[in-house]
Amino acid sequence: MTNEKLRQVYAYHFDSKHRPERYAPGPGGLDWATQPNPFRSFAGVPRLMLPLLADGGDLPFSAVRAGERPPAAPLDIDHLGLLLERSLGLSAWKSYGDARWALRCNPSSGNLHPTEAYLVSGGCPGLVGGVYHYQSHDHCLEQRAQDITLFAQAEAPGGVILALTSVHWREAWKYGLRAYRYCQHDVGHALAAVAYAAAVLGWRVERLGWSDATLARILGVDRAPDFDPDEREAPDLALWVGPERPSREVVEALRRRPWSFSGTANRLSPGHLSWHGIELVCQACERDAEQGVASVAETPLPSVIPRVCEQGAAALIRQRRSAVAFDGCTSMPFDAWVAMLDALLPRPGVPPLDAWGRSPRVNLLLFVHRVEAVPPGLYALVRAPDSLGSLRESLRPDWSWALVEGVPTHLGLYRLVEGDAREAARALACHQDIAGDGCFAVAMLAEFDAALEEGAWCYRELFWECGLLGQVLYLEAEAAGLRGTGIGCFFDDAVHHLLGIEDTRWQSLYHFTLGAPLEDARLQSEPPYAHREGGRLD
Ligand SMILES: Cc1cc2nc3c(=O)[nH]c(=O)nc-3n(C[C@H](O)[C@H](O)[C@H](O)COP(=O)(O)O)c2cc1C
Repeated sequence: MTNEKLRQVYAYHFDSKHRPERYAPGPGGLDWATQPNPFRSFAGVPRLMLPLLADGGDLPFSAVRAGERPPAAPLDIDHLGLLLERSLGLSAWKSYGDARWALRCNPSSGNLHPTEAYLVSGGCPGLVGGVYHYQSHDHCLEQRAQDITLFAQAEAPGGVILALTSVHWREAWKYGLRAYRYCQHDVGHALAAVAYAAAVLGWRVERLGWSDATLARILGVDRAPDFDPDEREAPDLALWVGPERPSREVVEALRRRPWSFSGTANRLSPGHLSWHGIELVCQACERDAEQGVASVAETPLPSVIPRVCEQGAAALIRQRRSAVAFDGCTSMPFDAWVAMLDALLPRPGVPPLDAWGRSPRVNLLLFVHRVEAVPPGLYALVRAPDSLGSLRESLRPDWSWALVEGVPTHLGLYRLVEGDAREAARALACHQDIAGDGCFAVAMLAEFDAALEEGAWCYRELFWECGLLGQVLYLEAEAAGLRGTGIGCFFDDAVHHLLGIEDTRWQSLYHFTLGAPLEDARLQSEPPYAHREGGRLD
């Protein structure tokens, strides 16, 4: 890694900060004529419609969040369909007046959905070996490359490679320079969504440590003529997903295969604004080594604090939504709060953080507004115990750091200072009321300099980790009868100033808020796949 790459990353991070007096450079208004199509598809390729099963089996969310898995479902087209539908598929259509838009199981900043997904498969019942793009609008696979001879049936692989890419333009259309950050958040949310959906099938997810160039070649996203130059896809990460652990031979065979591609990507917008700063940070953050994802031995934690939620995980995944407003009065029970925070700690075998394979680098600063028996104020959840000293050094010296009474000490939950934090949370989140009207809001603090010392590409990983935590909070909120919302819009250095942070050892990279939602009764809702033959009407 060169210092130039690091310089680019720090420059991008600084330039893409929102400030109360000046937001990060944006397009200066929405150009509706160039609004990107939220659905990528490939012309000139065979399409394989995935089944929409009426009953795909479910497991109580309380079991899934504790790491319980059913006996592994077989690897076949039905179960791959369930995996994709429950992670990256549509969850509903909404309409208001003439406007109609789709929601998906994975959330996305501005509902712009820059994340695309691919399967690289050696073949399984119902699916011949090949490289497939997942097209969520119709819940189908588009076959970009095929190889029926890759594996003899006897040695059929016990999993597939599920890879994620980002179309940065989709997000930049609305958010300009800051869009690169949001694309990375969305990758983290999508990774967590896949890990939860896999767990319901009894499957496991492991990250593969491929370089970006390898991933781009295998997915065919490095093929310039197949894409509009302004709508190229950047490779993000590759996961092994399935009933069995990845075998080195199978992964190598899929990696080395000289795939022969067909098809061209649809054009998403008739015109584009170019964001040079995104191109530069994207190049600087390229992961160029074939690194294994270093899994560091963690101190074993007690089992996750149980919570009663008989609702099925698949049902909860489909009902997940972002709140647009909170009631401003509901308090959440203390036990539910503690159990929710405990779910943010990594435990082997417990989704979705078991798929991360990295030691935590993100701690949480909590703006507590309405939690029963908890005085309002600022609190810290220290997920990375080794980082406690560095965090304490960086935050205001006069804060008390008292362990919260009645909470198991493994949680690392500290009260920093008591007081009404509603207005601070609201103002810091670009004046969004949802940050002050809920039960609590979160600023995710990442160990920034230390991560970048490992490599400029770790900049992306920090946002992915934040997105993973966001997805945990989304589902935990639903399970508690509440609702969450990711917050990408916040005033970075104003947050740092409030906390006393004066350098880049710790940086706030993502916010989140959670409370009792107010529904918008004006919106009409329709089922996700009624437009598809064989679509369910639920
Ligand atoms: C990374 C990220 C940042 C977001 N930032 C905001 C935000 O600042 N304000 C807000 O109201 N919603 C925010 N959201 C929520 C999205 O608008 C929401 O996910 C999207 O509209 C899709 O709706 P759904 O989550 O209900 O499926 C964010 C979501 C994500 C994933």
